[in-house]
Amino acid sequence: MADTAQLIIDGKTYEIPVITGSEGENALDISSLRAQTGYVTLDIGYKNTGATKSAITFLDGEKGILRYRGYPIEQLAEQSEFLEVAYLLIFGKLPSKEEYDEFKTAVTMHTLVHEDTRVIFDGFPTNSHPMGVLSSLVSSLTAFYPKSIDPGRTPDQINRTIVRLLAKIPTIAAWAYKGEMGHPLNYPRNDLDYCSNFLYMMFSLPTTKYEIDPVLVDAMNKLLILHADHEQNCSTSTVRIVGSSHTSLYTAIAAGINALWGPLHGGANQAVIEMLEAIREDGGDIQKYVKKAQDKNDPFRLMGFGHRVYKNFDPRAKIIKKAADDVLSKLGVDDPCLDIAKELEEIALKDPYFVDRNLYPNVDFYSGIIYRAMGIPTEMFTVMFALGRLPGWIAQWKEMRENQEPIGRPRQIYTGETERDYVPISKR
Ligand code: ACO
Repeated sequence: MADTAQLIIDGKTYEIPVITGSEGENALDISSLRAQTGYVTLDIGYKNTGATKSAITFLDGEKGILRYRGYPIEQLAEQSEFLEVAYLLIFGKLPSKEEYDEFKTAVTMHTLVHEDTRVIFDGFPTNSHPMGVLSSLVSSLTAFYPKSIDPGRTPDQINRTIVRLLAKIPTIAAWAYKGEMGHPLNYPRNDLDYCSNFLYMMFSLPTTKYEIDPVLVDAMNKLLILHADHEQNCSTSTVRIVGSSHTSLYTAIAAGINALWGPLHGGANQAVIEMLEAIREDGGDIQKYVKKAQDKNDPFRLMGFGHRVYKNFDPRAKIIKKAADDVLSKLGVDDPCLDIAKELEEIALKDPYFVDRNLYPNVDFYSGIIYRAMGIPTEMFTVMFALGRLPGWIAQWKEMRENQEPIGRPRQIYTGETERDYVPISKR
């Protein structure tokens, strides 16, 4: 592979450096293009723009490959624990037993949130969407840990912020749900592992003894791992770009939570279940919805279908589809939405519209069905996604800061009015 590519503008040839990644992907380094030529590149939606060099996650959308720090997602989802994957993503290697014990203990010891958080929490109306509550309360952590705002924070302070985020977000997330339900809030239990503690805080009520079901713990562990990182997606790019201004890690993560909320991103898991319910309530005519999705005059899209980078299959969707079957049969749940989902997938995968556009089910097509079987309400699905994505956001933020990346600041092509004189209001 050549070290440079040639770009010819107005008969003049410019040498553009070629960068090759460790998996052989090539890029044209255009960082000095404007200085050399006066041109910028235009790529709306960053469909073909590498925003950074990253050593965290590799994915090949054509081959359906996803690896965290080199480890295949299939092996991690089957054999590891979520906090172990969090350590791997954030610190770059699998922890030894001692490192893992120390990390788990640190996360466990920080699960309580400051009691004053309840005052903020009580200010939200009971029917607030839990994603709004989550992002607001994560931002509010800057008030309880003001040193996190200091751009000169030390590695020790940063590590403490990382541990606090991993420890406190499940508590805040469970509280957001309890608030929505009007239930009393549960405090974390440090005798429980990460997923068990979250399920306890979500579902335990003073009226009944809550038994932790290992099937739910296992399903949650798997789902969190599958969502833990996905290179430069919308919310991760948000975290990196917000963090690039040297704001607090808490506020960068809060920004990521807000970016994730939209139905074209993490909000899709909620939208999928709403769509499947709507199909069921409408008599289960799947063909009608497949046709609607193809009609350019109809804004309807098949939620949970299509992906910006996977143009073959989403490897996470494969694992999740199998997990959905397992979890539902183990829990003895019969969900008509799962049958509709399977039929919809089968019909769409044969339909030329979806085939020609390489539209396949993505990770969110089946995750909502598992969450529903676990008893997690629909508005909490995206919160579950945020819990899973948290280590990825942290790892990407840390990498960006350690590599001393400059502030993110894209260019534009201005298409507005050229200069004109102001007209006083009396003369308009
Ligand atoms: N249903 C129907 N048609 C679709 C769908 C869909 N779900 N997704 C894409 N298309 C069509 C588009 O209309 C377009 O058709 P055209 O070429 O005739 O104009 C073509 O496929 C390409 O679609 P784009 O929107 O250009 O693809 P892009 O990469 O920008 O969007 C996205 C990807 C946002 C995921 C899109 O597929 C979508 O909206 N899917 C539904 C929402 C969803 O499931 N989001 C979750 C993504 S996974 C995640 O974030 C965890």
